[in-house]
Amino acid sequence: MAVPFVEDWDLVQTLGEGAYGEVQLAVNRRTEEAVAVKIVDMKRAAECPENIKKEICINKMLSHENVVRFYGHRREGATQYLFLEYCRGGELFDRIEPDVGMPEAEAQRFFQQLIAGVVYLHSIGITHRDLKPENLLLDERDNLKISDFGLATVFRHNGRERLLNKMCGTLPYVAPELLRRPEFRAEPVDVWACGVVLTAMLAGELPWDQPSDSCQEYSDWKERKTYLPPWKKIDSAPLALLHKILTESPTARITIPDIQKDRWYSRPLKKDVKRARLSSGGVADSPGGFSKHIRSDTDFSPVKGALGEDKASYSTSQPEPGTGGMPWESGAGSIDQLVQGFSFSQPACPEHMLVNSQLLGTPGSSQSPWQRLVKRMTRFFTKLDADGSYRALKEVCEKMGYGWKMSCTNQVGLGLKSGLVKIKAKLSDIVSTQKVWLPGT
Ligand code: ADE
Repeated sequence: MAVPFVEDWDLVQTLGEGAYGEVQLAVNRRTEEAVAVKIVDMKRAAECPENIKKEICINKMLSHENVVRFYGHRREGATQYLFLEYCRGGELFDRIEPDVGMPEAEAQRFFQQLIAGVVYLHSIGITHRDLKPENLLLDERDNLKISDFGLATVFRHNGRERLLNKMCGTLPYVAPELLRRPEFRAEPVDVWACGVVLTAMLAGELPWDQPSDSCQEYSDWKERKTYLPPWKKIDSAPLALLHKILTESPTARITIPDIQKDRWYSRPLKKDVKRARLSSGGVADSPGGFSKHIRSDTDFSPVKGALGEDKASYSTSQPEPGTGGMPWESGAGSIDQLVQGFSFSQPACPEHMLVNSQLLGTPGSSQSPWQRLVKRMTRFFTKLDADGSYRALKEVCEKMGYGWKMSCTNQVGLGLKSGLVKIKAKLSDIVSTQKVWLPGT
């Protein structure tokens, strides 16, 4: 894709990529203001124009400190540009030490902010439907922001709640009723995902590939085998909360008002987050063995709009961004100009890219900007299909005396670990790639 450029704004770095297109960091040369630009190629998927319209519509409704701010959007031919608050701290995903998690006080603070964001969304009748650490971003002060409303929908309108029927989300985070019932309530599904996120933060691994009886780890949880990982790594107070959240029956599951009253949730914990993070850096010194890695790219969204679910209409009583009333909407080179658009012709300047990617590092992170970039960008490609790659890796693991394990969905497959290095491989037939995670050194 040609690199677009607007007046004084350089597109300096790719922040994320997905089936929709990509998210780029745009930096104003003069003022050094930074915004995230989600670039959606509407030709990529047949149903895309409707999806992106809905994402924009929902974004316009949002205004909360724990939700990524939406500045506006513009269309250039078949490409939509969404201008969003840039979250300098990156993904919550990158704050989770594989197999370890993060200090409990830090997890509690992030969880409280996640719940605050979800309370807000639910209060305006919106369900996110894909809450996971990859979609939870952090600003320069480590404040959590819920991001990516590509799967969000309206579940309450004019005071009337409707049940959902579309299966969407990311398997390890979806609630069990979504896999079993034709219709289900929206709010308990988001609450469940928050519980899986909390588990990942406290243990550095996902509890199961999916919450179905075919998954051994899920059956073990229902049988309360908390002497097994990830539960054995989690203290009794947060574990008691997780029992209430990860309750199979959505009607018996804890509600958000009751989460807010929970003993661990409301307990004051040591808030010296910076110090805690410093001590949590470095290679995990957890015992050997395999655990499910926490990035899950197994998004699935079958039967789009079944039963006309997606035909809801939206309205908002809130002032719309992009109407001139916001601080950033004034003056030359402002975000306002970026949204309204000037020329998309000049290339981004490589010197600026270097300077900006250094300047725009992540102050509070345990990794340097370069380490994050290396981790994000490192990919190994193979000409083999997923099965061939799996067999080849397994053979090498066995020869070298490493442990390996295939997960229950057969999609996310193989991990090996020595005292120093842990490699996790994700195999996919679709693109025949293996993602390799570098340890958080
Ligand atoms: N990745 C995706 N969206 C982002 C944003 N708004 N800020 C930082 N990184 C992102």
